[in-house]
Amino acid sequence: MKITIIGAGYVGLVQAVCLADFGFNVTCIEKDPEKLRELKFGRIPFYEPGLEDLFRKNLKSDRLKFTDNYLENIPYSDVIFICVGTPPKKNGESNLNFVDQVSKEISKRIKGYTVIVSKSTVPVGTSKRIENILRKKNSQKTYDVVSNPEFLREGSALEDFRRPDKIIIGCRSEKAEKMLKRIYKPLNRPYVVTNNETAEIIKYANNSFLATKITFINEIADLCENIDAEVETVAKAIGLDGRIGPKFLHPGPGYGGSCFPKDVKSLIYQGNKNLTDLKIIKAVDKANELRIQSLFKKIKKITKNKFSNIQIGLLGITFKPNTDDVRESPAVKLAKSLSKTKAKIKIFDPKGMENAKKELPKSIKFCENENEVIKNSSLLVILTEWNQFKNLDLLNVKKLMKKPIMLDLRNIYSKEITKLGFKYYSIGNN
Ligand code: UDX
Repeated sequence: MKITIIGAGYVGLVQAVCLADFGFNVTCIEKDPEKLRELKFGRIPFYEPGLEDLFRKNLKSDRLKFTDNYLENIPYSDVIFICVGTPPKKNGESNLNFVDQVSKEISKRIKGYTVIVSKSTVPVGTSKRIENILRKKNSQKTYDVVSNPEFLREGSALEDFRRPDKIIIGCRSEKAEKMLKRIYKPLNRPYVVTNNETAEIIKYANNSFLATKITFINEIADLCENIDAEVETVAKAIGLDGRIGPKFLHPGPGYGGSCFPKDVKSLIYQGNKNLTDLKIIKAVDKANELRIQSLFKKIKKITKNKFSNIQIGLLGITFKPNTDDVRESPAVKLAKSLSKTKAKIKIFDPKGMENAKKELPKSIKFCENENEVIKNSSLLVILTEWNQFKNLDLLNVKKLMKKPIMLDLRNIYSKEITKLGFKYYSIGNN
């Protein structure tokens, strides 16, 4: 079976590398010349644990190829995965220009039976939209369109690819369903087979539900702070209820990343467009946006609103650990707010510094390591739960800081550190 993947972004590249590793011949079409050159040289454009090694291994084996040439590949492909970006517009709608362009390229070139799989996160109706484009050039229906959304988490994409909770196949063709099942056979995981529209909405419902869970526990955390309760214990207890489950109940600075904020907004847009007022998800979106302001207020309270002549150190800038991605990162948003005060802001992140430099004002000092951030700070804020921040030498931290005050927005330490002389603030504990 010959597989073509269009778009070597996060989703496309993981899909291409993992399928090549299953033994398929995979060609990845990438239009960005700079990115393509890097890939051909064996370098991937972002950080994802384990991916680069697997990528190089399969590049060497010749099962994985990169090109910008549609003509040489599309006519000979059995299955084509569309993995292009669908960036959000200001109103929450997904921009489908890339999906349209790629569908046009495919429509001009397919020969023989081809399965076209939409892997990008796309609003409901996109399979039909792709089909309409294909039909214009192919009056004989020699193709099927499948919706096969992904659920890869940054930082654990390989693990998620190899052991997904479920594989969603949305189509109206048994032939296409069989082809997809052949591709995913090595995974041996449960399938949900449904029509295209249901598959499309599953992705949004899935991500929006997780975003809701996070936002819920963040609000409970706020309440806990005002009533002398401990949110971690609340999360543990409610998570033990099998109907709720323990995952995605970690309070923090709010959800970020390239998916949740965008998918939540897109779901709201799709609801409005289809005359359905999605009240819960609208509230989730708003609450998550307001979170940065309330964290900023918390910092103002800690510093007694005095920012002149103080240094605030920030540990972590990515939206979560094990990635270099800073898109929609609450850490970036908070750093931007703090940079408007008179405080001197220093940051360090193990992988996110290059991307953060493109986002943050020049007044922020980018440090080489944790100690440089900690030294002379009167407040240390932990924003991302990187492993290396979990075991800081606290006595040394205390010695280096001007005032030993910690705001731990990921709850990786506990009140215990007050015994060492720290003032300790966290989320959802008093
Ligand atoms: C998410 C989905 O999990 C994945 O299935 C989908 O395909 C892409 O979007 P990702 O964005 O990589 O993956 O990160 P995820 O681990 O889901 O975390 C998203 C955000 O929620 C992060 O900012 C994280 O810090 C936050 N989060 C997550 C919490 O604040 N608390 C939690 O309990 C879990």
